[in-house]
Formats: sequence, C-alpha cells, structure tokens
Amino acid sequence: MNGHRATAALLATLALPAATVCAEDGSPEAGRLVYEAKLCNLCHIVAGVSGPMANLGGSLDGVGQRRDAAWLALYFTDPKAAIPNATMPAANLTKQELADLVAYLLTLR
Ligand code: HEC
Repeated sequence: MNGHRATAALLATLALPAATVCAEDGSPEAGRLVYEAKLCNLCHIVAGVSGPMANLGGSLDGVGQRRDAAWLALYFTDPKAAIPNATMPAANLTKQELADLVAYLLTLR
C-alpha cells in the first residue's frame, strides 16, 4: 500500500517541472543570462549574434511567435517529446532557469 502511494507521489513530482512552468513565473532578463550560461548561442543566432555551430540550430529570431510557453518548456526538458527526431540536446535546467529561459525566448518576436 505504502509502495503504491510512494510511486504515485514520485510520478507526480516527475511530471511537475514541464507541466507547471508558465512564462509569468520567469524573468526575461534572467533568461537571457541562462541562454548565455547554457551555451545555447553555440548552435543558434539571436539578433545577428551567433556561435561556431549556428548552422545546426539556426536563428531563434521570431521564435516567440512560432512557439508557446508549453511547447518550449517541453522541448527543453525532453526535445524528442516535442520534435520526434530532435537532435538538440536536452538542457540541464532548474525549474526557475527553465521558466526564465522560456520567458526570454517568448520576447524574441
Ligand atoms: C548542439 C547544438 C545546440 C545547442 C547547444 C542548442 N540547440 Fe537549440 N536547436 C538545435 C537544433 C539542431 C534544433 C532544430 C531541432 C532539433 O533538431 O532539435 C534546435 C531548435 C531549437 C528551438 C526550436 C526553434 C524553432 O524555430 O522551433 C529552440 C527554441 C531552441 N533550439 C533553443 C535552444 C536553447 C534555449 C538552447 C540552450 C539551452 C539551445 N537551443 C541549445 C541545436 C542546438
């Protein structure tokens, strides 16, 4: 009985991060720093600033119009759940970093 309850609690915890992230919890300014700290720039271009492998991920300009908060949170947590043959690595982010990063990307319009 206890084991079952513990499993249910664990599943609830695991399901939490992506499901509860909403952009209002995040700060775009902090998210810009997360973008730099996690080396997203390596494979992407934002406002003409790009890294050595920018051809892999391409430009994120306008991504805030193409994608919403839920999609971005899912994609950063489990890329293949959002794009079946995704090649982008999952980012190792705290819940707060994830919310900040999503808030930042939603400002790219
Ligand atoms: C190793 C290269 C690489 C790194 C590092 C990387 N990406 Fe990507 N990214 C990609 C590729 C490749 C795609 C295209 C989809 C796929 O294959 O997953 C992509 C797609 C995306 C998309 C979807 C764009 C769209 O128009 O739908 C977003 C948003 C994104 N990346 C954000 C990030 C963020 C934020 C980080 C840092 C946490 C990051 N990427 C780090 C390679 C990378």
